[in-house]
Amino acid sequence: MAVTVIAIDGPSGSGKGTIARRVAGALGFHLLDSGALYRLTAISALKQNVAFDDVAGLAAVARDLDVEFDSNDAGGERILLAGVDVTRDVRKESTGALASKVAVIPEVRAALIDRQRAFQRPPGLVADGRDMGTQVFPSAALKIFLTASAEERARRRHKQLKDKGMDVSLAALSRDIEVRDQRDSERSVAPLKPAEDARILDSSGRSIESVTQTVLDWVAEL
Ligand code: C5P
Repeated sequence: MAVTVIAIDGPSGSGKGTIARRVAGALGFHLLDSGALYRLTAISALKQNVAFDDVAGLAAVARDLDVEFDSNDAGGERILLAGVDVTRDVRKESTGALASKVAVIPEVRAALIDRQRAFQRPPGLVADGRDMGTQVFPSAALKIFLTASAEERARRRHKQLKDKGMDVSLAALSRDIEVRDQRDSERSVAPLKPAEDARILDSSGRSIESVTQTVLDWVAEL
């Protein structure tokens, strides 16, 4: 039986992660946070002293990632890399920036493809990232491109990091997000862009509940 896949792509701070988690929870589906794999590749490369211009080395790091997605006692995420809790490092903005550097390398993307597709298990999968609808799950039942204004995305990311006790300035964050979006959109492999058959969803000025409901309404139409 084909497993239903819902692909949610979009730029940083568009709310993909939050919406994907809510939708997966409501449907009882599995969740793939593909950005975490690029973030973990960057962290693992740093730990193993693999240079960020060593293409073969980075691809090997991506292929051999020993990662476990788990939850903590409060139900929040807990990510283990080779058995070590790296949850906090994964979410740092500096890790996001390094992730977008390794993500331009075709060999790294290729090394992560099968791992991402393995998340496709019954009863279904909600996958969030940049290329879920275009490359990883091109036959997804529903493809959504989630956007929000640049100011709102920076504000949301700022709040998210502050809530986690991380101190960053809003101005610096806005610049980082802009640089990352540009790199993600202009790279030659799997650039950030809506799939031709994606539905565009602008979350600016909308609550998490309302955006989640729109997605669930679209799922109900399938
Ligand atoms: O979504 P998140 O901020 O965790 O992603 C971190 C970086 O990983 C992105 O800026 C992007 O460069 C890369 N990425 C990607 N393809 C995906 C998910 C993330 O290239 N499917």
